[in-house]
Amino acid sequence: MSGHGIPQPFTARRAGPLKGTAHVPGDKSVSHRSLILGAMTVGETRISGLLEGDDVLATGAAMRAFGAEVNDLGEGNWSVHGVGVGGFCEPEDVIDCGNAGTGVRLIMGAMATTPITTTFTGDASLRSRPMGRVTDPLTLFGTTAHGRNGGRLPMTVIGAANPTPVHFELSVPSAQVKSAVLLAGLNTPGETVVIEPEATRDHTERMLKAFGADLSVETEGTTRIITLKGQPEFTPQTIDVPRDPSSAAFPVAAALIIEGSNVLVPTIGMNPTRAGLFETLRDMGADLTYENERIEGGEPVADLRARFSPDMKGINVPPERAASMIDEYPILSVVASFAEGRTVMQGVKELRVKECDRIDAMAKGLRAAGVTVDEGEDWWAVEGLGPRAVPGGSKAEARLDHRIAMSFLILGLATEKPVTVDDAGPIATSFPVFTDLMTNLGAHLERKNA
Ligand code: S3P
Repeated sequence: MSGHGIPQPFTARRAGPLKGTAHVPGDKSVSHRSLILGAMTVGETRISGLLEGDDVLATGAAMRAFGAEVNDLGEGNWSVHGVGVGGFCEPEDVIDCGNAGTGVRLIMGAMATTPITTTFTGDASLRSRPMGRVTDPLTLFGTTAHGRNGGRLPMTVIGAANPTPVHFELSVPSAQVKSAVLLAGLNTPGETVVIEPEATRDHTERMLKAFGADLSVETEGTTRIITLKGQPEFTPQTIDVPRDPSSAAFPVAAALIIEGSNVLVPTIGMNPTRAGLFETLRDMGADLTYENERIEGGEPVADLRARFSPDMKGINVPPERAASMIDEYPILSVVASFAEGRTVMQGVKELRVKECDRIDAMAKGLRAAGVTVDEGEDWWAVEGLGPRAVPGGSKAEARLDHRIAMSFLILGLATEKPVTVDDAGPIATSFPVFTDLMTNLGAHLERKNA
């Protein structure tokens, strides 16, 4: 299956150690938000280090369709001349968000309280994903949404003309839903409140404050209560996007499982709401160090050094950690295959509604490579075979999911026999330079004819 053109099968095979420095691209979450908040601000917002992956480029195109001027200045530098909160104009055509769940959900929130009508669509993966989790709270503002098949894309959203503020408690731990509600609250008079029983990534809150929103967060145990005053005066920003911890996960994981490796992955965003994988790897006994820890542009940043780690042990990853590493379970399951003993990952039901059902996709591909995987609705477990003992010699389906494609290619770099992924095309959504970057470190990745 491919919604990105001709499938691009790739084979990964074991090669020598990985050595060198891996400059991964900008953070996807921060990149989407930079373009959207820039478009909601009168004046020029400057962005450096923007992720120029397909997902983020689709958001940039959408912002143009809503009336913002979005300019590519080269080398990851972009400028956005926004139209202001409530200033979006009605797009002339359907907004195609490609593969991007974050893009479509945040943009729905951003336009939901402006009286315009917009129809959204995406690729086969995005059209299969639930949108009701976003449009249900948006209807509380007075927004209307009509989707296909119980809330799937294509979907038409009619923004509220006289929005009323909302008090909403999240029923799924989702930064996308939280962010959609907060963005809708911007053009709504009064206070919009989002109650988050479990903390999810907080880039929206941090960035809204930086742009000048009156936003406060109270914490009661694990619950966060976020209060936003509507109709702020936004000031344009200069944003330096940190490098993406979710992309850093791939060269880091590869270095841990390939004999003799020593890789530096500099300037990685280490926001605690995102860094769960690195803590988990360290708990497993990985030789992963944080060098040069510092604050850049309001976000904690570090240089990661990962070395071959033959003594990793399987562990129990508790549900409380899920939100801080939700995108990293596929690559964790690969590392866990090379640890000694069982790794159990709990409280991860959300993995079933990502770009694909990520538990099912990884379980099938790992089993084909000789690894035992057990699963339930909201948990799964991998029986590690130790540092050099995963057979491989298998094929894996990417299912239009960039992180599944990259995870299986990293697997094949350390298995006894090569692993082939049916379509590496989706990797361009979040990590367009993945194969070049890995090859420069010494990885053996080879394009096959379809
Ligand atoms: C994201 C939130 C997460 C994550 C996605 C990016 C964001 O999704 O999986 O890749 O930028 O807000 P959920 O909100 O569905 O957990």
